[in-house]
Amino acid sequence: MNHIACELNSILEGTVAEKMLSNFGKRIYFPKGIIVQSAEAKKFAETANATIGMAFHKGKPMILSALSDHLPYLSEAETVAYAPTAGVESVRELWFKHLLEKNPSLKAEFISLPVVVPGITAGISYMADIFFDKDQTVIINAPCWDNYSLIFEERREARLRNVSFLLDQSIDIVSITEAIEDEARTGEVRIVLNFPNNPAGYSPTSTEVDMLCECIYRAADSGANVFVLCDDAYYGLLYEDNTCKESIFCRLAGLHDRVLAVKADGPTKEDYVWGLRIAFITFGSKGLKKAHFDALIQKLMGTIRSSVSCSNTPAQFLLLKTFADQRTQDNKDRYFGILQRRYLAVRRFIDAHQNHPVLKALPFNSGYFMSFECTGISAESLRRVLLDKYGIGVIALGEKYIRIAFSALNEEQITPVLDTIFKAAEELA
Ligand SMILES: Cc1ncc(COP(=O)(O)O)c(C=O)c1O
Repeated sequence: MNHIACELNSILEGTVAEKMLSNFGKRIYFPKGIIVQSAEAKKFAETANATIGMAFHKGKPMILSALSDHLPYLSEAETVAYAPTAGVESVRELWFKHLLEKNPSLKAEFISLPVVVPGITAGISYMADIFFDKDQTVIINAPCWDNYSLIFEERREARLRNVSFLLDQSIDIVSITEAIEDEARTGEVRIVLNFPNNPAGYSPTSTEVDMLCECIYRAADSGANVFVLCDDAYYGLLYEDNTCKESIFCRLAGLHDRVLAVKADGPTKEDYVWGLRIAFITFGSKGLKKAHFDALIQKLMGTIRSSVSCSNTPAQFLLLKTFADQRTQDNKDRYFGILQRRYLAVRRFIDAHQNHPVLKALPFNSGYFMSFECTGISAESLRRVLLDKYGIGVIALGEKYIRIAFSALNEEQITPVLDTIFKAAEELA
């Protein structure tokens, strides 16, 4: 094993992070090569900097005129220069500050500085690389975002333990506890918590967050090492008063020495920038100190360096400028209002159409989606009929569930679309 990887592993020795590392996670390191030497030269090479593989003219990166014309408010360096492997420092600090502002109970000492990754998907995939080996189990909500299967099962050969996290109108704490206790007996628990949830659109209440944390605490306290990945892709899109307004990551980060929590989040959905491809990974654990977080970040940087090398530079500077722009909060408030009204239109329809013979809504109160469980018909048949006969596109998740992205519908479309879905389902039964 490379000597830098050994050094990082010895810094992490005895911590939950070291115990949960995959074989790749143990081997990976960030070399003191081109990137480190070039960063040193950027600071100290006053006479000439011949380190980085970029082309400069009069001290600025060369840039095509068409690019600078289309991005007139970004400098050459903000547009075409390579970004640091872990992200532009000011962007990382901005997200750190935002995490603390959006989650008042989050304690800075329990979390790392966020690392920039090229999208939440990439961030989750990197965590799978670092913390999952073949045949290891990850507890996951069923139904879940379909990409988890590609990331954990196909890429990493881990095993998804599908547990229905939701029951009637709430979290199914009994099933979750059973799965966690069962895994805890093996000495290790790995779990993904995705709230607001894709595809159900549910987020827990504060009482449910308490129950989830108690259950994870008990597993850790019984001696198991626990890795929790909080996929917070839809963070903040909470439409009801009784949902917990903070990410469960805040609680998990300070819960127990044997709990390692990771927050995968970003502006993708929160800030309406789906194609910008920028997101963040933040580590949190009561048992880790700054040196441990730094070692984990070095391992994540090695993972980034060996795959995409670094994230998109203009995306990072555009995010900085967007956050500094006075119009942004107003825009966000307005868009939130639009989404909330769409949610309320769905809610009113569902409340007025209980006891449908075929479709039962899974609990929903947040995010972009709501889903129906189909009884007696196949979800795929319903999807085909809706598309072919009525020109309505929805997602079938296996044979049992259909997902409606109400975020993508105008408010006035919601009642007629749901009405058609209900009728089509009845006709199929
Ligand atoms: C639960 C969940 N996580 C992550 C993502 C992906 O986010 P990104 O586009 O930033 O990779 C999505 C997108 O659909 C999602 O639904």
